[in-house]
Amino acid sequence: MPLPYVLLSAAVSLDGYLDDTGPERLLLSGPADFDRVDEVRASVDAILVGAGTIRADNPRLLVNSAERRAARVADGRPEFPLKVTVSGSGELDPAAVFWHTGGDKVVLTTDEGARRARALGLAADVVPLGAVLDWHTALEYLHDERGVRRLMVEGGGTVHTQLLQQGLADELQLVLAPVLVGDPKAPRLFGPGAYQRGRLRLVETRRIEDVVLMRYLPTAPGAGSDVCAADRHWLALACELAELCPPSRTAFSVGAVVVAADGTELARGYSREGGDPVAHAEEAALAKADPADPRLATATVYSSLEPCARRASRPAPCARLILDAGVRRVVTAWREPDTFVPGADGSGVLAAGGAAVVVLPEYEERAKAPNGHLLGA
Ligand SMILES: NC(=O)c1ccc[n+]([C@@H]2O[C@H](COP(=O)([O-])OP(=O)(O)OC[C@H]3O[C@@H](n4cnc5c(N)ncnc54)[C@H](OP(=O)(O)O)[C@@H]3O)[C@@H](O)[C@H]2O)c1
Repeated sequence: MPLPYVLLSAAVSLDGYLDDTGPERLLLSGPADFDRVDEVRASVDAILVGAGTIRADNPRLLVNSAERRAARVADGRPEFPLKVTVSGSGELDPAAVFWHTGGDKVVLTTDEGARRARALGLAADVVPLGAVLDWHTALEYLHDERGVRRLMVEGGGTVHTQLLQQGLADELQLVLAPVLVGDPKAPRLFGPGAYQRGRLRLVETRRIEDVVLMRYLPTAPGAGSDVCAADRHWLALACELAELCPPSRTAFSVGAVVVAADGTELARGYSREGGDPVAHAEEAALAKADPADPRLATATVYSSLEPCARRASRPAPCARLILDAGVRRVVTAWREPDTFVPGADGSGVLAAGGAAVVVLPEYEERAKAPNGHLLGA
């Protein structure tokens, strides 16, 4: 099921703290960065914080710029993004300014928490999501029931930690402030636990007065049929690669990327790459990987189109090449239509060979885009 794009946003001290232990909120960035945050808020459908942040900071979480609010309204969006909090206990202060400023508010909580929150008379929709609060369910609710496509998460550490560890964060926007807290009792950005192995991808750095904004994307693929945010990033890249294919009237334009379990890109390719008129994307990518690389056994192949099951141009179809390379996980956007090979079932060949095949239909339109001339579109 599609989920919102989840953007984690935080400011941290040089020693990794979100705050100190004093009664006032520690201001880590300055006016120019607050204005950048305002711009990001204006771009999203909803802003989420944990109940701990409401208790500690009593934040308003508004779009402060009148121009940005007017632009939202002109675009047919609500003046303010939806404000969302998560609470297991339901113990929230009904007088907190969170409830009394901005637009609509939602409390995502447990069945037990909902009883308490309703008894408190919070000025918000109280939504019970079961005996425990599962993040996947919470994001699905925001996507399906509230139309949230972009979600900005503004802390605190407990919430950021869970979303990153569970592979649900699409992007991390981190501002590093030249401040040292040095108090082990202060809240940290990320707590202990299991994170993705390997390195995140740094996609931007920007100096803003005396702080530095860093934007990172997670890179490590999910496992088996479990899909994580990095899977969507890699499949989007495969769709971009498909746009590079030399045009053809007799073959699809496809992009492929091979990614190790720790998020390292091992190889990429696209159809007819390098002037080979019959090269397929997965074939072109796998040809660049070292066949003796032990990382292939736990790698994922992302292909904008389901790997082929049969082909006239070469003896081995791509589903077979993938299995022979030792890869056992494939993520694709689009099952192969009958255009050239009736009843092609690359997914079936892969599954019979022990590979997990995941189809993310939300990328189908992007995968089809360079193939419109073959589809009668
Ligand atoms: N520097 C920054 O950018 C920044 C941004 C935001 C916050 N902060 C700081 O971060 C600190 C607060 O962080 P925090 O980690 O204590 O709190 P938090 O992450 O804001 O909220 C934690 C609370 O959220 C609820 N929650 C989270 N995950 C849940 C789940 N899976 N199921 C049910 N409930 C869940 C629980 O509420 P219940 O207790 O009600 O069950 C939990 O106690 C404050 O000091 C604040 O100043 C800093």
